Amino acid sequence: MLEHDVIIVGGGLAGCRAALEIARIDPSLKIALVAKTHPIRSHSVAAQGGMAATLKNVDDTDSWEAHAFDTVKGSDYLADQDAVEILTKEAPEVVIDLEHLGVLFSRLPDGRIAQRAFGGHSHQRTCYAADKTGHAILHELVNNLRRYGVQIYEEWYVMRLILEEGLAKGIVMYHLLDGTLQVVRAKAVMFATGGYGRAFNTTSNDYASTGDGLAMSAIAGLPLEDMEFVQFHPTGLYPVGVLISEAVRGEGAYLINSSGDRFMANYAPSRMELAPRDITSRAIAKEVMAGRGSNVDGSAGGPFVYLDLRHMGKEKIMSRVPFCWEEAHRLLGIDAVTQPMPVRPTVHYSMGGMPVNTDGQVRSGADGLVDAFFAAGECACVSVHGANRLGSNSLLECVVYGRRTGRSIAHFVQNRKLPSIDEQHYLQQAQAEIEHLFNQSGTIRINQLRQQYQDTLTEYCGVFRTEELMQTGLTKLQALQQQYQQIYLDDRSKAWNTELIEALELRNLMLVGEIILTSALQRAESRGAHCRDDYPQRDDTNFLKHTLAYYSSSGIDITHRPVAITMFTPQERKY
Ligand code: FUM
Repeated sequence: MLEHDVIIVGGGLAGCRAALEIARIDPSLKIALVAKTHPIRSHSVAAQGGMAATLKNVDDTDSWEAHAFDTVKGSDYLADQDAVEILTKEAPEVVIDLEHLGVLFSRLPDGRIAQRAFGGHSHQRTCYAADKTGHAILHELVNNLRRYGVQIYEEWYVMRLILEEGLAKGIVMYHLLDGTLQVVRAKAVMFATGGYGRAFNTTSNDYASTGDGLAMSAIAGLPLEDMEFVQFHPTGLYPVGVLISEAVRGEGAYLINSSGDRFMANYAPSRMELAPRDITSRAIAKEVMAGRGSNVDGSAGGPFVYLDLRHMGKEKIMSRVPFCWEEAHRLLGIDAVTQPMPVRPTVHYSMGGMPVNTDGQVRSGADGLVDAFFAAGECACVSVHGANRLGSNSLLECVVYGRRTGRSIAHFVQNRKLPSIDEQHYLQQAQAEIEHLFNQSGTIRINQLRQQYQDTLTEYCGVFRTEELMQTGLTKLQALQQQYQQIYLDDRSKAWNTELIEALELRNLMLVGEIILTSALQRAESRGAHCRDDYPQRDDTNFLKHTLAYYSSSGIDITHRPVAITMFTPQERKY
């Protein structure tokens, strides 16, 4: 059995930032970071537009209070305001710390970090590295982890959280290289496993975003919070769904319908293209439903709208958003200097996740905490985003709460002993699970079932929802889940068996999808990204509360937890 003081699962920004903090506080600790890809291929590397912080380099009237208000209003008042206060107060110092670590932020002519406009933010406060901000930050963090001697287990897939009687003890992991199974025990376990975008058929997320940590936590009997809130980013490149950063609109691009009208004037006249994402995504969907979308041949009535950069000019496009230009050029052959880009909403982010307190400790319910278990980043719900996240607040959350969680772990493990684990029991269970998949004699291919599942979740739990639609969707999802027993694998080898990993990931995607739908069904109101045609109003009397969904083999139970309202009284949300 392997042993470490701390195991961090997930090689993205939150996990790396936590590992760095632990190593800085106590370099004698044995820290392991486990990632199913190489860490610099974690999905954080794909983050484009930037990280919000009130550095006041461009607008000296900005303040953490303004950032906090924008975030809470953007969240449709579901964010926990104590957590938002921490996020926005600590933002400037975490950005400066990243700068000192060597992150190559874009600069103003006087050398200070540049800041741009972003949706839902009232001031120009998003710090950036062109449109490759995640790439710039993650590379420096990983370099720094190597300097501190953090042990990185790359291309190990974590199959199970070991949780016994309320104590997190370790994990079971599988090495893609040669099929080795290992139990790892530790004094503290942290999940930073990212989101679940691949549960839907159109997403900006990479192939690894399969909700593994969420599913493992749910299977261990722990709740998932606010899973009904799925963020659709307004500008996924049509038809592939990859991200075209909000930074493009932050730098001045327009959204236009098939008549060439800037339709956001009808939906959010004071913010136009820089309205929050829930509002902008719904506006695009409504334009398309009203027949004002475009087709590839230029005719009206099609499935997308255009993102028009032409008036920005080549110099600005190439210096501020070169990667977005390149994506459209590489994938569609479009030159955004002279042609508009086709876009439509794409699943981008999970506002919900494993409930945690502001020290990153995982909650076991509305009141209790799980011993020795921590989480941060997209898989966690501290809840700074509530019902709708503002762009450029997620990198910030990863770094602020990654750092805080790292700090609390570093203190937590002092004077703790390694837990005892029955290693053979867990190895045998994992081996049996793999053998079971190898020996299934069904006829269904993984990609066939996954595609049906993704199509179903997208159709029945998309931008607009109703009880009838979601109930039908849930029945269909449950029928598809039954078919999991009939998938078959061609590859039964131990070396680099990606088909086995896809089978394990599919189990996780399916479980997460069922929790999303069940949580969405019980929330009989419209709030943020959760838009119910049958309940079009926000209902603070009955639903100003967080959802906690508990999975078990007999079904999903829902309870609630109160929202922390410390600064801003909920009011009507208008832009
Ligand atoms: O549009 C973007 O660049 C995405 C940023 C974010 O999700 O925070």
